[in-house]
Amino acid sequence: MKKKIAFLLTAVMVMGLAATAGAEEKADLATVTPGKLTMSTNAAFPPYEMTTDSGDFEGIDVEIAGAIAEELGLELQIDDMDFDAALLAAQQGKSDIVMAGVTVTDERKKVMEFSDSYSTGIQVIIVPEGSEIESVDDLEGHMIGTQRGTTGYIYCSDDFGENSVTAYDNGLTAVQALNNGQVDCVVIDSAPAQEFVKANPGLVILDTEYVTEDYAIGMGKGNTALLDAVNEALAKLQEDGTIQEIVDKYISAE
Ligand code: ARG
Repeated sequence: MKKKIAFLLTAVMVMGLAATAGAEEKADLATVTPGKLTMSTNAAFPPYEMTTDSGDFEGIDVEIAGAIAEELGLELQIDDMDFDAALLAAQQGKSDIVMAGVTVTDERKKVMEFSDSYSTGIQVIIVPEGSEIESVDDLEGHMIGTQRGTTGYIYCSDDFGENSVTAYDNGLTAVQALNNGQVDCVVIDSAPAQEFVKANPGLVILDTEYVTEDYAIGMGKGNTALLDAVNEALAKLQEDGTIQEIVDKYISAE
C-alpha cells in the first residue's frame, strides 16, 4: 500500500516537473508584451482578416495566430493598422508577428524573418463586367488600383510604371475606386478578390493569374527564437489538421 502511494506521488511529481519545464521553455520566449503574442495586421482582407459587425477580429490568419499563441502559451493580441504599417511594426519590433496574407518576397526577406508558408495566394485582376481588359497583357495603358505596400502594387509598378498604378489604403477602398470609375481595374490577392466581387455586383475577376505567391508569418530580423517556436507550432497545427480545418471554414472548395 505504502509503496503504491509512493509510486503515485513520484508519478505526479514527475508529471508536474515536466509541465513546469514546458511552461518555462515558453516563458523564455521574449515578446513585445510579456505573456502576449502581438500580431500586427490589416483587417480589411477577407477571408484572412476582417472585423465582425461587433468589431471583433476574425478570419484565417486570426484563427491560425490564435492557435499558434495557444501552442506557445501566450495570449493573442491583435493590432489593426494599414498593411505597410503592419509589415513595419514586425520589422521594428513593435509587434511580434505580422500576419496579413503576407507574401514572401526576396526584398522583404532582407528586412524580416518568414515562417514556413501556411497558404498560397494568386494576384488576380478585378474589372467591371464587359471591360476591354481581358488579360494581363491588356493592363498596359490603363489605370490600375492596388493596396499600398502590397506585392500587387510592386508588380504593377515594376511592369507598367508607377504612373499607371494608384495605391489605396486597403483592398476595399481600391474596389470602391473601381466602382466609381477612378481606376480601370484592381490587382489584388484572389481570396479577397472573390469576397469583394461577391459584395459588388457588376465586377468580375479575370480568368488569368498574374502571379502566384506564398503566404507566411513575418517576424523581426534575427528573432530566431520566435521563428523556431512559430515554425514548430505551425508544423504541429499542420500535422493535426487544424490549419486545414481553419482554411476550410472560410474558403469553400469549388
Ligand atoms: N499578399 C499581398 C502582399 O503581401 C497583399 C497582402 C495584403 N494584406 C492585407 N491584410 N491587407 O503584399
